Amino acid sequence: MAFPPSFLDELSARNPIVEVVGQYVRLTRKGSNLFGLCPFHAEKTPSFSVAPDKGIYYCFGCHKGGGVVNFIMEQESLDFLDAVRFLAKRAGMEVPDDGARASGYRRQERLWALCKDAARYFRAQLFSPAGAPGQDYIRRRALSLDTVKRFGLGYAPNGWSGLLDAMGEKGYAKQDLLDAGLAVKSDKGGVYDRFRGRLMFPIIDVRGSVIGFGGRVLDDSKPKYLNSPETVIFNKRKNLFALNIAKKSKQGRIILTEGYMDAIALHQYGFDCAVASLGTSLTEEHAGILAKYTRQVVITYDGDAAGQNATRRAIDLLEKTGVQVRVLRMQGAKDPDEFLKQYGPDRFRLLLERAENHVEYRLDALRRQFDLTADDQRVAFLRQAANLIASLPSAVEREVYGVRAAEAAGISPEAMKLEADKAYRQRRAQARRRQAQKDLAPAAAAQPQSRELRYENVRSAMAEEGVLRLVLKEPALLDACRRLEPEHFSAPLLGRAYGLLRAQYEAGRPVGLGSLGEAVTPAELGHLSAVAQKTDELVSEQALADCLAVIDEEYARRQVAGAADLQAFHRRLQEKKGYGGN
Ligand code: GTP
Ligand code: MN
Repeated sequence: MAFPPSFLDELSARNPIVEVVGQYVRLTRKGSNLFGLCPFHAEKTPSFSVAPDKGIYYCFGCHKGGGVVNFIMEQESLDFLDAVRFLAKRAGMEVPDDGARASGYRRQERLWALCKDAARYFRAQLFSPAGAPGQDYIRRRALSLDTVKRFGLGYAPNGWSGLLDAMGEKGYAKQDLLDAGLAVKSDKGGVYDRFRGRLMFPIIDVRGSVIGFGGRVLDDSKPKYLNSPETVIFNKRKNLFALNIAKKSKQGRIILTEGYMDAIALHQYGFDCAVASLGTSLTEEHAGILAKYTRQVVITYDGDAAGQNATRRAIDLLEKTGVQVRVLRMQGAKDPDEFLKQYGPDRFRLLLERAENHVEYRLDALRRQFDLTADDQRVAFLRQAANLIASLPSAVEREVYGVRAAEAAGISPEAMKLEADKAYRQRRAQARRRQAQKDLAPAAAAQPQSRELRYENVRSAMAEEGVLRLVLKEPALLDACRRLEPEHFSAPLLGRAYGLLRAQYEAGRPVGLGSLGEAVTPAELGHLSAVAQKTDELVSEQALADCLAVIDEEYARRQVAGAADLQAFHRRLQEKKGYGGN
């Protein structure tokens, strides 16, 4: 591991989990644990727990869990190293140098600094005489000075080396600009500015670092927009334009748009919760990040076919995260920017309030696939609408949308209800069959949390979990486990965790899951946190002795079974030889 364990221990000690989590989640004490609304999935009743004595958090809803470093990784979308740096900074600690990884980080820091300097350069250009075309364009798009400043807009002059020269003077190498995606290498090996004659939009991550740029031409030439390529600091799948501002909004929702100009126009008109996906369609990562910051996402993509396809995709991805999804549709304008200019913010606010939930949107999309004046098509629509309605968990919703679909198709609500009820019953029967199948696989059913982790030997695994809980609670019990080796565990992950905890103990370090660092994956840590958070009445030596006995017994049984297999194998081999020899 790259960091000395003593450093990670101090990091955990100086960043108490209740304090750190408390900065993001309102926690209420219940017994020895604290509870709050999970920041990682949308929920109304608290299933997110923090155990200060164990230094871990665990969500009973989405099964995420871990120590303070994992919490920051998840909450701030940081990798391990950056999360460590984040917490070190918070506690005023120096991060030890760790060779290769530190130099990777220094590289990132260099590119962050370069992008920030580049943004300053573009902004200065915009306000200089050379920036006249840019200023002109800004006026034409009716962007206020305040907006230009808030988004740090700039102008890239129409030369080949304006930025390269300016950054060269500040001590940056050509390679730095290439690595940051700000310069391009020609076939002949020459290096020139990537962005020329464009209005520049800095892309800023949630921590406030400039990580890339979008650049728009000032006329109708192509390509209209040019974006930074992926770099070591710019990952398009994980970043949304303007989220650094929208994450602080008090409007209780996030408005998702397709373009820079849409998001910026919304902000200018007071909708400070707008973001844009960066010229790519929404990704699973985007959806997860949005769900972290809000409970409701309003999609306002363009009305054209591409926009509508993107909307359907976005609905699916967002729904999976548990956020409330709404779709806003405009008439008389192509996108939010045009709409706001044409009709003003009050009309937009009305649309926002009336934004349809995804059921309405889907029903409507379905309706438009059929010609409802033809009988056979009406029947087909009815069937599909019934299926959609049957998928709604609430009876009230099924009733409301059933009536609406009936109206659309011009049939009686009763007929619709019959069809929807039938579809609903079929679904339920299907679900029951699936459940019955699951019940037939006891190992899987006994497995409490993560679907990826199955216990092969449930009896032993329960005792193994018990051992982990006991030694986490009372590390001194590890003295009584001298004979127990990680290999004796039936569940490899539990064995590995046991080995790691024992190593902590033997090194005189505090024993806890929170400081396992990178020795376990986030999913594994989630499982271990679940194990640690289970309550049981086990206490100290007697319980430990019972667990040890079970593990021993099961281990011995597996050895014998293994040996028996081996014997059987040898016997078959012998028999074969016997036949062959004759
Ligand atoms: P304006 O014309 O400035 O109002 O932009 P718009 O947002 O109306 O443009 P459009 O709907 O055409 O594009 C939406 C988003 O797609 C833009 O903000 C860009 O992120 C992206 N995009 C548009 N055109 C291009 C292009 O030519 N190349 C790339 N890479 N992205 C583009
Ligand atoms: Mn537009």
